[in-house]
Amino acid sequence: DVAEKGGYPDFMLKEIHEQPRVIRDTLAGRLSAGSLVIDELDMTAEELNLVDRVYVIACGTSYHAGLIAKNLIESWARIPCEVEVASEFRYRNPIITPTTLVVAVSQSGETADTLAAIRDARVKGAKVFGITNVVGSPVARESDGVIYTKANKEIAVASTKSFLGQVVSLTLLAMLLGQSQGELTGGQVKLLFSELADTAEQVERILAECTDSVDEAAEAMVDAASALFIGRGMGAATSYEGALKMKEISYLHAEAYAAGEMKHGPIALIDEGFPVVAIATNSAVYDKVVSNLQESRARGACIIAVATEGDEDIKKHADHVIYVPKVRDAFSPITASVPLQLLSRAVAVKRGCDVDQPRNLAKSVTVE
Ligand code: G6P
Repeated sequence: DVAEKGGYPDFMLKEIHEQPRVIRDTLAGRLSAGSLVIDELDMTAEELNLVDRVYVIACGTSYHAGLIAKNLIESWARIPCEVEVASEFRYRNPIITPTTLVVAVSQSGETADTLAAIRDARVKGAKVFGITNVVGSPVARESDGVIYTKANKEIAVASTKSFLGQVVSLTLLAMLLGQSQGELTGGQVKLLFSELADTAEQVERILAECTDSVDEAAEAMVDAASALFIGRGMGAATSYEGALKMKEISYLHAEAYAAGEMKHGPIALIDEGFPVVAIATNSAVYDKVVSNLQESRARGACIIAVATEGDEDIKKHADHVIYVPKVRDAFSPITASVPLQLLSRAVAVKRGCDVDQPRNLAKSVTVE
């Protein structure tokens, strides 16, 4: 057991630490002579150019990778993209035409709802592209094309390295769509790719440097009954996954909100010491996030902020700061998710929970 965990106390921590490798392996061989290589998609440049609607369908953590992808696809390819949980998608009548691309994201490749949604979408004439971690899995077999996330076997029930692999794969797909729609130039793709590749080293650095600040933040929220995770834009998508991870393994109730919605309800929850975890990395909406932090703090919240290195100002607005390296906003979910994974694990350990095997949860859900 100890050997399998590679010297780590649990699989989750081991898998969190594998993420730089996952990023590198997922990107290996994907850029050649300035062009993206995603042959598995099995669509011609012309077919890709005709895509006019994208649905990302998934469950759980994979759904959150989809929320991140929506932002990237809409911003780089200017194609409308909807993200939907597979259990909803399969029971409605979504608008699918031959120029619709459905992207099914599933770590295990065998989630019953996701598979049913794939089958349904294909019957309706969509091209279905799978993103999965398991070679030869049903999602891989039943999709028109598949990208493997190269996370290798994930043992901890709560997904970490697979999530990062999904985000990186979806980022590549968004870049490909951007290029095929004529929205991104070859030069832009090359630059994005090289910055994306840099995140491997940046995640390595986060893993080496943020242990103390994560531990301090975990200590501040360990006895809380509930917590809010907030952010805007990419930060909102990241906060959803942060809250899910916290619930899954520490049983601390956590809810994520787009920070601008605080005033429409969640702010009523805040009293002295209520933990608010905020994604406050550099972005066009940074100032807006800061004003949401101020509003929360004025009501007694204990603020834990994930912020960009060099941002000293944030210390005025937060009780605890966890710094991550500066990246473009598009890649902030990759870096900001890592301390949130570590934070949920640290809280779970302090609360005496079994981080690898949370109660009531299964690694894959093959029944409806
Ligand atoms: C279960 C797992 C989650 C996972 C979800 C979707 O709930 O516990 O970690 O995100 O299923 O699984 P999939 O394999 O389709 O990504």
